[in-house]
Amino acid sequence: MKTEELRLLFEQMTLEEKIGQLAQTTGNCLVDDIGAENAVTGPDMDLEGLTESRRYMVGSVLGVSSAKEINRIQKKLLDNSRLGIPLLFMHDCIHGYRTIYPIPLALSCSFDRELVKAAGAHTAEEMRASGIHVDFSPMTDLVRDPRWGRVMEAFGEDHKLSGEMGKAMIEGYQQSEDGSIGKNGVAACLKHFAGYGAPEGGKDYASVDMSLKEFFGYYAVPYEISLQAKPRFVMSSFNSFNGEPVTGSRFMLKDVLRERFGFEHILISDWGAVEELKNHGVVADDREAAMAALEAGVDIEMVSTTYMKHGEQIINDSPELQKQVDDAVWKILCLKNELGLFENPYVDEAKEAEVIMSEKMRTFAKEAAVKSAVLLKNDNILPVSKEVKEVVVLGKFATTGELLGNWLCKGEFSETVSVTEGLKQLLPNAHIEAYERIEDCGREKIESSDLVLVTIGEEWNLSGEAHSSANIELEAEQQEMIRRIRAVRKDFVCVAFAGRPLALESVIDEIPALLWCWFPGTMAGAAVAELVLGDAVPCGKLTMSFPRTTAQIPVRYNQYRCGRPASDQLYSSKYQDIEDGALFPFGYGLSYGDVAYGQAEISSDVITDENGIEISLKLTNESSYDKEEIVILYMEDPVSGNVRPVREMLQYKKVALKASEQKEVLFKVYAEELKYMNSALQKVLEPGTIRFYINDLETPVAEVIYKNRVGGK
Ligand code: BGC
Repeated sequence: MKTEELRLLFEQMTLEEKIGQLAQTTGNCLVDDIGAENAVTGPDMDLEGLTESRRYMVGSVLGVSSAKEINRIQKKLLDNSRLGIPLLFMHDCIHGYRTIYPIPLALSCSFDRELVKAAGAHTAEEMRASGIHVDFSPMTDLVRDPRWGRVMEAFGEDHKLSGEMGKAMIEGYQQSEDGSIGKNGVAACLKHFAGYGAPEGGKDYASVDMSLKEFFGYYAVPYEISLQAKPRFVMSSFNSFNGEPVTGSRFMLKDVLRERFGFEHILISDWGAVEELKNHGVVADDREAAMAALEAGVDIEMVSTTYMKHGEQIINDSPELQKQVDDAVWKILCLKNELGLFENPYVDEAKEAEVIMSEKMRTFAKEAAVKSAVLLKNDNILPVSKEVKEVVVLGKFATTGELLGNWLCKGEFSETVSVTEGLKQLLPNAHIEAYERIEDCGREKIESSDLVLVTIGEEWNLSGEAHSSANIELEAEQQEMIRRIRAVRKDFVCVAFAGRPLALESVIDEIPALLWCWFPGTMAGAAVAELVLGDAVPCGKLTMSFPRTTAQIPVRYNQYRCGRPASDQLYSSKYQDIEDGALFPFGYGLSYGDVAYGQAEISSDVITDENGIEISLKLTNESSYDKEEIVILYMEDPVSGNVRPVREMLQYKKVALKASEQKEVLFKVYAEELKYMNSALQKVLEPGTIRFYINDLETPVAEVIYKNRVGGK
């Protein structure tokens, strides 16, 4: 539709119809009997007091899938609406739609922007084929506490990495870099703005309290970087931030999101979050809740109905809000128009089956699963020879397809390759037996088999939204299984599935080889088999530190310096009953075969605001594997005006190296990225020494002097 026609349509809208566009409902409010397989269940819209005609004014529906259901709902609405404004359909496709890719935390361990972008693009293609237009993803909440169940949806503990991964994913979803929606793209919704990843005690939905220095220096950075990709939506978060529930916070949503970060598109609340302002205790009733959210600039209210019930009255009483409502409605209409919904509101049901779970999607799912795995331990056990004849697979994940992780959307366990199936495909001549319980296997088989592969971890539904845990140790039963196997043989392989880092201190010494696969998705078992048998090489590195025990949380690579850093001294900052530092820190990950790192060269020992420096080094693949090497550059600012973290990641590169190949890696570093946010909320860098580290956080590879414009010290 031409913009002028759209304008004419807009001008015909009553205030009631405009408010309708700002309301989002579940599919059940418009049609009956959507099967559970095609709709997410949750508290439905409270329709009390709403006339039926109002229902047909809503602007969007969430959580419904399948082309047939979507067309049915669209038709019902269009048949009953005065102006025939089609619905937008939105869904949470966090790591795939029907074909499921590794959970976002796993994807981030690939340190591979292209892979993450491709995960977004593949997801979008399946969504569009089903008729969905908006994805409530990515979540770039910075996470430091693995007790929080939603770390699985995040990109780890580093703010820059999280931002870059979020940005890549948005570019993949929208299939553009300029905010337009490509042919098979969907609109991305960046969430949850802001600070949702730092709930007190790691308990979902709990309050967030932190200094603004911490917020702007770290927690806000992933959103800021992601916004460069121009997501068409941002979702406000459930939490309160420094005493203000975000969904009603003018500071957070207007001053920070709109003004400071320049977000111009559509702001949607989280599920029921407008109504929940009452539970936060900052408003007395629904009317006040609607007023607070409107004043904070929330465009669309998800599921709760305070806008529908009180919006008109509020605008009549506060006409200054009319423009905001008009702007919001106009943006929503423009997006519908850009998606071509006025011309064709329906999706081609015949095409859906061609796109969904196609060979292309499955092939990509395997690649992504391989690249997201992290090898945490290997006492010369992996890879295992393909000559093995007798194989035993043990543990609760041995034969199950439940390897998709939470937010599995339309993923089906029955369509997921299990570990045993994956091994059978690659070892057609081996005799493979699988037992969930060690008791059913018997000692003799464990002793005499050529390969004992033990699956461990945490079930898929123990992480994700509303799945925080007070204890993240590996289950006692599984620890016992590992000890029993160890008593019989020293060479076995553990493959782990989990949506969060687990605390493994008490059992790690008993495990000779540990491949951490997170939740790998549809092709899980195929990827595991390739990695274990050496057809693929593990190359991922952790993006979230593994604490030794739950009580050690938070533990992260970029903790602040302190006056008495951990040491052998009694009066130093540590726990007396465990070793200091993470069991496996950010950036940790083993591989097969060695890559030699040459001496780093630095182009100058002075860096200024005008002139950056280059750090280069040679990598030599000394192994017979073709592989990818993740090279991470960190900095240390030994003397600064405010306390800074001990190390900070600056950049990373992923280098493909054929067997025996040598390549040069080059980092260009500019003074701007060495700066930090000080307590006056300014980005600064005092003149002086900066040290650089590559992968290893102990030994610097180079050092420069930063001289500011006036000469410095
Ligand atoms: C979650 C969001 C999600 C929304 C819609 C909420 O409970 O916090 O991340 O997008 O539901 O399903």
